[in-house]
Amino acid sequence: MGCGSGVTSLFIANETGATVYANDLWISEEENRKRFANWNMQDKLIPVHEDATNLHFNKEMFDALISIDSYHYFAGKEGFFVNNILPYIKEGEIALIVIPGIKNEYDGRSEELLTTWVGDEANMFQCAEFWKRMIGTHENIEEVRTWEMSLFDLAWQEWFDTKHEYALNDKKYFDSIIKPFTTFVGIMVRKK
Ligand SMILES: C[S@@+](CC[C@H](N)C(=O)[O-])C[C@H]1O[C@@H](n2cnc3c(N)ncnc32)[C@H](O)[C@@H]1O
Repeated sequence: MGCGSGVTSLFIANETGATVYANDLWISEEENRKRFANWNMQDKLIPVHEDATNLHFNKEMFDALISIDSYHYFAGKEGFFVNNILPYIKEGEIALIVIPGIKNEYDGRSEELLTTWVGDEANMFQCAEFWKRMIGTHENIEEVRTWEMSLFDLAWQEWFDTKHEYALNDKKYFDSIIKPFTTFVGIMVRKK
């Protein structure tokens, strides 16, 4: 969900052999279809262009929902997961989500602490406890876990190593803002 240009989708298809429905809003189905064909993955990667808030998949269609660095754009409302994501996952299966966030101890202070770095997007940086509350409870949810991920420095270093202009800008804020206040939040939900 929110696959962008589909690099994670490619990784999942290659590592697991699964057929991946690669859904994104900002990148068109056509653009991703061409890219997946260039990778010779047209049989394994199916491009979809839908808004996560209004999906049209069949109910209980997926063995897993994977979302990297996109869930915070559309899911920060109570009831979102239960209404918009849970119905599409098969019984007993899981959602695995990773997003950037703020450390638990700075809960509620994202705008004050992060605006200098990310401007208006600061309010999307929420803590692991917040995301646990947002997922909430439901008779069809077996387990919800949210946590601060340990792979922080390496992930950032690999981003800086790309020398992308955005990476060079982020690097300016790493010691003063990114490292002290932010984290990557992992979210795991298992359906009953
Ligand atoms: C920072 S990019 C991450 C892309 C990719 N997952 C990655 O890790 O490279 C965020 C993605 O979230 C997607 N997105 C934002 N709002 C969305 C929505 N309402 N429904 C589906 N995707 C959405 C955008 O299209 C964008 O590609």
